[in-house]
Amino acid sequence: MEFVVTRAVPEDAAALLELLRISGGETDNLTFGAEGLPFTVEQEREFLASMEGANAMFVAKAGERMVGCIGVHGVGRSIRMAHRASFGINVLKEYWGRGVGSALLQTAIDFAREAGIAVLSLEVRSDNTRAIALYEKFGFHKIGHFPDFFRVNGESVDFELMNLYL
Ligand SMILES: CC(C)(COP(=O)(O)OP(=O)(O)OC[C@H]1O[C@@H](n2cnc3c(N)ncnc32)[C@H](O)[C@@H]1OP(=O)(O)O)[C@@H](O)C(=O)NCCC(=O)NCCS
Repeated sequence: MEFVVTRAVPEDAAALLELLRISGGETDNLTFGAEGLPFTVEQEREFLASMEGANAMFVAKAGERMVGCIGVHGVGRSIRMAHRASFGINVLKEYWGRGVGSALLQTAIDFAREAGIAVLSLEVRSDNTRAIALYEKFGFHKIGHFPDFFRVNGESVDFELMNLYL
């Protein structure tokens, strides 16, 4: 399968919200479910337009179809944490296992390094073996275990905290 990874532009807003809505319904791995994110297309458009510095969204497209995304978010609220960033990644289920996640993560790591980020962090469900394998492949290490990080329909879910030192 051919796909390309590009930096998202404001015109990607509608497709991105739709991708997140579908992805939210496909697993319980994300911070939201099938309802997707509570933003209008206009709000998402403005959000994409405002991303600068250590903040960026990248999308994977197979032809016209958006099939995955990764958002890098700098911890910009304090100069003492400006060397750190986190990210969120997801790929449409029917495209899993074809290298899309790896391409997105490589792009995000390259971007973070270029933006002067020294520590890239993430939080992942302890039972999300596919994602953890992806992160370990790129050199992320577990730095902690966070019991009761999510409650999904009232059920407690543990998470792993992972870091990559660039
Ligand atoms: C996690 C996710 C982004 C991976 O995307 P992907 O496109 O499937 O990733 P890739 O095809 O590049 O595979 C990456 C690695 O995952 C691992 N992997 C692939 N298939 C796997 C499987 N069946 N079981 C376990 N690990 C597997 C491998 O380590 C693989 O690397 P390799 O092919 O070089 O060996 C994707 O599954 C996803 O979006 N899941 C739902 C949302 C989610 O969980 N996001 C992360 C929240 S922290």
